[in-house]
Amino acid sequence: MDIMTAVQDACVSGQWLTAIVLSLFCFLPSCLPAGQTVDYSSVESVVSRQGDTALLRCYLLDGISKGAWLNRSSIIFAGNDKWSGDPRVSIVSNVVDKHEYSLQIQKVDVSDDGLYTCSIQSKRNPRPKHIQLIVKVPPKIYDISSDITVNEGSNISLICTATGKPEPTIFWRHITPLAKKHESGECLNITGITRDQTGDYECSAQNDIASPDTKTVKVIVNFPPTIHEMKSHGLGLGRTALLRCEAAAVPTPEFEWFKGGQRIYRGQGIDIKNLSSRSVLTMTNMTEDRYGNYTCTATNRLGAASASVPLIPPNTAPYGTTGSAEVVQACRYLILALSCYISVY
Ligand SMILES: *[C@@H]1O[C@H](CO)[C@@H](O)[C@H](O)[C@H]1NC(C)=O
Ligand SMILES: *[C@@H]1O[C@H](CO)[C@@H](O)[C@H](O)[C@H]1NC(C)=O
Ligand SMILES: *[C@@H]1O[C@H](CO)[C@@H](O)[C@H](O)[C@H]1NC(C)=O
Ligand SMILES: *[C@@H]1O[C@H](CO)[C@@H](O)[C@H](O)[C@H]1NC(C)=O
Ligand SMILES: *[C@@H]1O[C@H](CO)[C@@H](O)[C@H](O)[C@H]1NC(C)=O
Ligand SMILES: *[C@@H]1O[C@H](CO)[C@@H](O)[C@H](O)[C@H]1NC(C)=O
Repeated sequence: MDIMTAVQDACVSGQWLTAIVLSLFCFLPSCLPAGQTVDYSSVESVVSRQGDTALLRCYLLDGISKGAWLNRSSIIFAGNDKWSGDPRVSIVSNVVDKHEYSLQIQKVDVSDDGLYTCSIQSKRNPRPKHIQLIVKVPPKIYDISSDITVNEGSNISLICTATGKPEPTIFWRHITPLAKKHESGECLNITGITRDQTGDYECSAQNDIASPDTKTVKVIVNFPPTIHEMKSHGLGLGRTALLRCEAAAVPTPEFEWFKGGQRIYRGQGIDIKNLSSRSVLTMTNMTEDRYGNYTCTATNRLGAASASVPLIPPNTAPYGTTGSAEVVQACRYLILALSCYISVY
C-alpha cells in the first residue's frame, strides 16, 4: 500500500465521518429541516429490565455503507469508533450477517431510557432508525408500617410504599383462611377494628415486569376478657372434682378463683393450672366442706369478667328433683285414667 492510497483512505473515512456527523445532528428535533419530524408511530420500542443487557438492532444496507449510533443528542458510535466513554456500550456485528450494526447496552438503568438513533449513511440518503428504549424496574417495597397493637374499636391506617417502573399497584390482604383482599392503595384504613381482624396483613406491590414484592405487618387487637365456658366435673364425695374456666382475651388474662367470696389458692388438695386462655381448678378427694359457689375471674389490662358455678353434692342436684316431680305427675294421670276406666264399667 503506498502513501497515496493511505491518504485517499483517510480522506474517504474523514468524509463519511463528517457527513455522518452532520446528518446525525439534523435528526435532532431542534435542527430538523422544516417539515421533517420524528414519526413516533414508526418508532420501534425495546423493553428491558433494569440490570439486564439491552440489544438495539440495526442493519447496514450493504457491506460498504456506514452507521452511527446516537443516544438522544450524543453520539455513542460513529462507525466502529466509540465516542462514548461508557464501558457498558458496544457494537454487535454478527459474523454471519456482516451487515448487523446493533447497539448493546449492559446493565441498563432508568437513565438509559429514551430515544436511540441508528443512522445509516448510504448514497445521499441518510436513513435514521429510531428506537425507544424502555427500561422497566421490578417493584420494591421501601417502606411499610411497623407491627402494631391496638385496642378493639380503634381506627388504624397501614401504609406501604413501593418503587418500580411502571409505578407498582399496591394490594393489601388480610392473611386468614379466607384471605380477604382489600381495595388497592398505599393506605389500608380500618375503622373500628374488631378482634377477628387481628393477624398478618400482606402488602403486595405489583407491576408487569416481575413477580410482586411482598411484606407483612402484624396487627394485634387487644380486647377485654369474656368467659365463654365454666364447667364442673366429678362432684361425688371422695372423687376428684374439676372446674374449668375458659376465657377469650388479648392480652392473655390472669385467672383467680373464689369460693363464696373467698380467694382460693393452691395447696391442701387444691391445684390451679393456667393455660393461655383457660384455668383448671382440681380438688382431689372431694369433701363436704368443699361444696359451694365457685367463681372464676379473668382479668387483663382492658377489663375483667367472671362466671360462677355452684358445686352441689350429686344426690341433691336440682335436675334429680325435677325428675321425681315428673314421675309423681305421671302417676296422677295413670290414677285418673284408671278411675275413668272403672266408671265406664
Ligand atoms: C444516554 O443518555 C443519558 C442522558 O444523557 C445518560 O444518562 C445515559 O447514561 C446514556 N446511556 C447510554 C447507554 O449511553
Ligand atoms: C374512627 O373513625 C370514625 C369514622 O371516621 C370516627 O367517627 C371516630 O371518631 C374515630 N375514632 C377514633 C378513636 O379516632
Ligand atoms: C386513610 O387514612 C389516611 C390518614 O390516616 C388518610 O390520609 C387517607 O385519606 C385515608 N384513606 C381512605 C381511603 O380513607
Ligand atoms: C394461675 O393464675 C393464678 C392467678 O393469676 C396464680 O395465682 C397462679 O399462680 C397461676 N398458676 C400457674 C400454675 O401459673
Ligand atoms: C379423703 O378424705 C377423707 C375425709 O377427710 C379421709 O378420711 C380420706 O382418707 C381421704 N382419702 C384420701 C385418698 O386422701
Ligand atoms: C355465686 O357467687 C357470685 C359472686 O360472688 C354471685 O354473684 C352469685 O350470685 C353467686 N351464686 C349463687 C347461686 O349464690
